[in-house]
Amino acid sequence: MEDKFKKLEKLRSEALIGGGKDKTEQQHKKGKLTARERIELLVDSGTFQEIDSLVTHRSQDFGLDKQKFYGDGVITGFAKIDGRPVALFSQDFTVFGGSLSEAHAEKICKIMDLALKTGIPIIGLNDSGGARIQEGVISLGGYAEIFLRNTLASGVVPQISAILGPCAGGAVYSPAITDFTFMVRNTSYMFVTGPNVVKTVTHEDVSFEELGGADTHASKSGVAHFVFNSEVEVLEGIRKLFSYLPLNWMDSPPEKHFTSDNLIIPELDKIVPDNPNKPYNMKDVINLLTEDFYEVHGQYAENIIVGFGRIGGMSVGIVANQPKVLAGVLDINASVKGARFVRFCDAFSIPLVVFVDVPGFLPGTEQEWNGIIRHGAKLLFAFSEATVPKITVITRKAYGGAYDVMNSKHIRGDFNYAWPTAEIAVMGPKGAVEIIFKKEINNASSPEQKLKELVEKYTEKFANPYIAAERGYIDEVIFPRETKKKLIDSLVLLKTKVDNNPKKKHSNIPL
Ligand code: HXC
Repeated sequence: MEDKFKKLEKLRSEALIGGGKDKTEQQHKKGKLTARERIELLVDSGTFQEIDSLVTHRSQDFGLDKQKFYGDGVITGFAKIDGRPVALFSQDFTVFGGSLSEAHAEKICKIMDLALKTGIPIIGLNDSGGARIQEGVISLGGYAEIFLRNTLASGVVPQISAILGPCAGGAVYSPAITDFTFMVRNTSYMFVTGPNVVKTVTHEDVSFEELGGADTHASKSGVAHFVFNSEVEVLEGIRKLFSYLPLNWMDSPPEKHFTSDNLIIPELDKIVPDNPNKPYNMKDVINLLTEDFYEVHGQYAENIIVGFGRIGGMSVGIVANQPKVLAGVLDINASVKGARFVRFCDAFSIPLVVFVDVPGFLPGTEQEWNGIIRHGAKLLFAFSEATVPKITVITRKAYGGAYDVMNSKHIRGDFNYAWPTAEIAVMGPKGAVEIIFKKEINNASSPEQKLKELVEKYTEKFANPYIAAERGYIDEVIFPRETKKKLIDSLVLLKTKVDNNPKKKHSNIPL
């Protein structure tokens, strides 16, 4: 008996060392943590239950039969974050560069299958040289098995990816299918083809970091939702994000204890400037109204803000136009960013709170030729399709099609509020009078004076929330200072909301 126990002890300790001391030192020298160190930082202390620690590859070619490491380059198992369960895998770069063999892929698939059956989120810590070259197509098959599971799990359990090393070739498509991708500056990168191939094909000279580093994907491509300077911050970021999310689509988002005697916030009354063309920072509004705002996609399409927050302790998804950037206009990137976030919240029962100050869609050939019609439709579709509680607050402009798109009453907004500073109309006063009074303006003795008079008249009549309120398109015009109370009351009321879409196989969002 003693011998048998000793054998298990020996195997376990061998499994713990991954690719060995030298490889671990190399990993540290690159400024990277090991796969196990990452897990320790990510999950509640002592909660990690590993499975498949004794799995090895089955390859006989290229001398691999003489090179076997327990675990085969990925650590998989279950743990808790803030006492709530997660499934996770963490690729071990010290073993064959974390490359994906058949056995490695099977381990990932096994925990994904279990996570799906038990309804718990999946977190993947990626650090891999890609397909295990010695295993050829078997490894490609392994990737496809993972992609399939990512797809089937989409909308069932939240999936979070951290890129903590290389992620190249088709391997990028697993994180791309998951809900959120974290990256770390200088040590992680993602691309379909690396700088050398790029140089051969397009003759462009580009570095790893420039082509597929964290900032590139955070600001240019939108592939990364969160970027940090260190792995420790990435892992903390994942814990924070997790705190807003339910475990699965049938679970409710976690609620934090909240008490406050005074929900009136006078500072809100002073945020919107008197001059309608003057920008202000919508994040000031969000930060005053939410307890703990966590922005998603903060560096991408900054003319729209998306992120999680808590209002009265309840988890909410915030979508807001940002008048400080491009006057808050909706363009292609903002539409796609907003649409994906709205769909995530809807899939996981996270109520949507929408702040509107939007002058319309961005004009121009660049936008039209690249498909603002198709992409803008995504945001409209996502809001229209969403059946979670949906609350809108129009702080200032809500013009044209963008008024309809930004969770208007007509597309099933549950509570639509407007501040007295709201301007709800087909377009801004100047543009409007230039069209409808073209002749009068041109024939006037002083066209400039005439234009000014007409703009004033139009502004007086239309640039306000009261016509919409008369029709019931706005449920109530509220003082900014009372917004938090209105939001909490509305969210509490909507806790029991039930709404459904017509039965179908699936919808056909304009991709
Ligand atoms: C097998 C690999 C490997 C791989 C790295 N290693 N990548 N072994 N298959 N894909 C091994 C190396 O041989 C080395 O082993 C160890 O891991 C560490 O690698 P280094 O090269 O020393 O590390 P580094 O200098 O940090 O460079 C990392 C790297 C480089 C940039 C990732 O290893 C690299 O370019 N690897 C190949 C990447 C690649 O082309 N992968 C296939 C992509 S296509 P020793 O024993 O010497 O320490 C793909 C398709 C997916 O993945 C398709 C899905 C549909």
